[in-house]
Amino acid sequence: MMVVKLGGSVLTDKSRPLSFNEDVSGRLADEIVSTGEKEIILIHGGGSYGHYTALAYGLDKIGKPVSQVPLGFLETHMSMRRLTDRLVEVFYRRGLRVYPLTASSIAITRRGRIDSLYIESIKLALEMGLTPLLHGDVVFDYEDGFSILSGDQIAVRLALEFEAYKVIFVVDVDGVYDRDPKLGGASLIREISVESIRNIASGGRSSMDVTGGMISKLIEASILAEKGVEVYIVNGLKPGRLYKAIIGLEVEGTRIIGGKTLGYRGKEG
Ligand code: IPE
Repeated sequence: MMVVKLGGSVLTDKSRPLSFNEDVSGRLADEIVSTGEKEIILIHGGGSYGHYTALAYGLDKIGKPVSQVPLGFLETHMSMRRLTDRLVEVFYRRGLRVYPLTASSIAITRRGRIDSLYIESIKLALEMGLTPLLHGDVVFDYEDGFSILSGDQIAVRLALEFEAYKVIFVVDVDGVYDRDPKLGGASLIREISVESIRNIASGGRSSMDVTGGMISKLIEASILAEKGVEVYIVNGLKPGRLYKAIIGLEVEGTRIIGGKTLGYRGKEG
């Protein structure tokens, strides 16, 4: 079993609200189909859909009481479903038969972390030969009323539940850099240990990301790497990288490793 998280920054254009990258999404579907890999769970992020709507309603700032947020909560969920609908359609045309499942219907968080989770539908979809497609979502939270649940956290939890041997995070940069690549002079880190993750400052929190950007992704990914799961971060905007990562060919990107070895630095920028 393999889990692939398709970042919202790849599927959408984060600089333009509600903009869907149909070409990129279609090409990623082609890459997945051509691997012939059937045991995959897909998760997609929010990009210019979920993050945009959540920010528009200030969901990242509003705490309790929950009575203040139902509209933003609902709108953000609907925004994510619209993105899912578009993906399902594009994927279907490319021969990738995904079955969409809403995270908020199967997961409840407690203080932002998944607490209860119902995975039977995912199992049965897989048995039917369909690829389950989940998404980052606004979900009910036992303590806080609601929380914004990242697709990354869902990917990690499902990887553990389904004992995935590999998890691939598809993003819009080549991987993890030793500093913010926008500032120049940054080097791609080809392998990074869980121990060094806390020292990495690249990626940061972008203004349109309500779930924490690259840092949160690395922290989530560490949970898996520590358990021996192969974890990769690859650029979905560059054709062929997801394909290579799925079939296990050497690919430009960052691998997260559980051991204590410090990562070596790859080629410049
Ligand atoms: C975000 O999911 C979900 C919502 C904002 C509701 P992610 O955090 O996984 O999205 P990306 O991949 O960073 O866009």
